[in-house]
Amino acid sequence: MKNIIVVDDDPMAGKILVRMLRSEYRAHAFVDPAQALAHFMEHGADIVITDLKMPEMDGMELLARIKEINADAIVFIITGFASVDGAVRAIKMGAHDYLAKPFNPDDVLVKLTRAIREQSLEKQCSSYRQRDDRSTGEIHIISGNEQMLAIMAMARKAARTDSNILILGETGVGKELMVKKIHRWSPRRDNLLVPVNCCAVAGGIMESELFGHEKGAFTGADKTRTGFFEMADKGTIFLDEIGSTDIRFQVNLLRVLQEGVIYRVGSPRPIPIDVRLVAAANQDLEKEVRAGRFRSDLYYRLSVVTITIPPLRERMDDIPLLVDHFLHKYQHINPSVRGVSAAGYGMLQDYNYPGNIRELENIIERAMIIETTDTLRPESLLIPRQKRSGRETTDTPGSSTAGAGDIREMEKKHIIEVLAACNGKKIEAARRLGINKTTLWRKMKRYGI
Ligand SMILES: Nc1ncnc2c1ncn2[C@@H]1O[C@H](COP(=O)(O)OP(=O)(O)OP(=O)(O)O)[C@@H](O)[C@H]1O
Ligand SMILES: [Mg+2]
Repeated sequence: MKNIIVVDDDPMAGKILVRMLRSEYRAHAFVDPAQALAHFMEHGADIVITDLKMPEMDGMELLARIKEINADAIVFIITGFASVDGAVRAIKMGAHDYLAKPFNPDDVLVKLTRAIREQSLEKQCSSYRQRDDRSTGEIHIISGNEQMLAIMAMARKAARTDSNILILGETGVGKELMVKKIHRWSPRRDNLLVPVNCCAVAGGIMESELFGHEKGAFTGADKTRTGFFEMADKGTIFLDEIGSTDIRFQVNLLRVLQEGVIYRVGSPRPIPIDVRLVAAANQDLEKEVRAGRFRSDLYYRLSVVTITIPPLRERMDDIPLLVDHFLHKYQHINPSVRGVSAAGYGMLQDYNYPGNIRELENIIERAMIIETTDTLRPESLLIPRQKRSGRETTDTPGSSTAGAGDIREMEKKHIIEVLAACNGKKIEAARRLGINKTTLWRKMKRYGI
């Protein structure tokens, strides 16, 4: 049973709450915040519910003290009509939510249950993240597809060498996952894998981010800074979205690859580096080369080994394995779910996944949250209808695979629709599309949306 501490200088309010919570929680009421705090220090509590205005100690101070002892503690603030401002301030300071007086038992219980559930989710997520970050954590690329298995065998072989690797593929196909795996497979696994999203770094500061700078090298360079290349020494540097870098940076990078040394911005001293470079881009990189936006000499350097990860729609035989994997991964959200209904499977098989595996993962995760029975049904697998393999729109027999142009057209239309549905909010749209913000931004730019 979870423990709750209730703090209110009005003993009646405390009693009412304790009675309300008794069926599901072990609750203690205190009129004196100092005593409540002492109890919390000694025994801890899963949730603290506190009034804001109390004579001995302000609720805000109690909140701060509790958060100091345990930053994960869930604190609710009791508010009357007069103290809404205070509640807002408290939430900004880390309170979870407020409970309004007079208490409505249903409302109180729902809020508490939800808070506890969110916290355990958050805990599991962060322990998962930690596991994933530690170099011992397993990284699984799930696939039984022949082409993918061949690709993985090749990647594994390449991983043992020091050659540069270029990874191509649409958004969400697992490029970053592949990079992590390559790093693990390589003799460099005990040193760092340093990922850099070139799209997120403003053009002008790429050099200083990657190569570092000397104090005073430019306005604002008040300290010497080690760049990502030096951080990745004896390890791997991962330049994601390399296609978005500007020509000037490409020239500098090429020189680094040729000479095996870097120069910090503002320093004439070469620093030798021992770094394996892995770069990733979406498939348009060759087009960028032809268009003169990406230097061909750099392209040839980077693509000594090129790994192209096929989109999910070209390896639909992986769907059952991946679905199983994600059911397992998100089991904690909804432990009663055992599998996917036949109709649900039909829908999953009948969709072309412009957001690839990330999108499939999002569909399963969302379905786990929504589903109320023990199998994921079409009602909870929210697959964008207009995208379902085009069967509804094209009726030509034998032409079930759309050409690249068609798919781009469909993707553009889909993005516009989702953006409209989100009132143009890009973060929300990216989430619904199952792609990240930079990818959405890139696609909008490409399609001129
Ligand atoms: N074969 C796979 N098995 C299991 N999970 C996968 C697989 N491929 C991708 N994923 C998962 O799908 C999500 C997207 O993968 P990742 O971030 O590697 O894609 P990406 O190609 O780098 O996408 P983007 O171009 O948008 O950056 C991640 O959560 C990843 O763990
Ligand atoms: Mg990526």
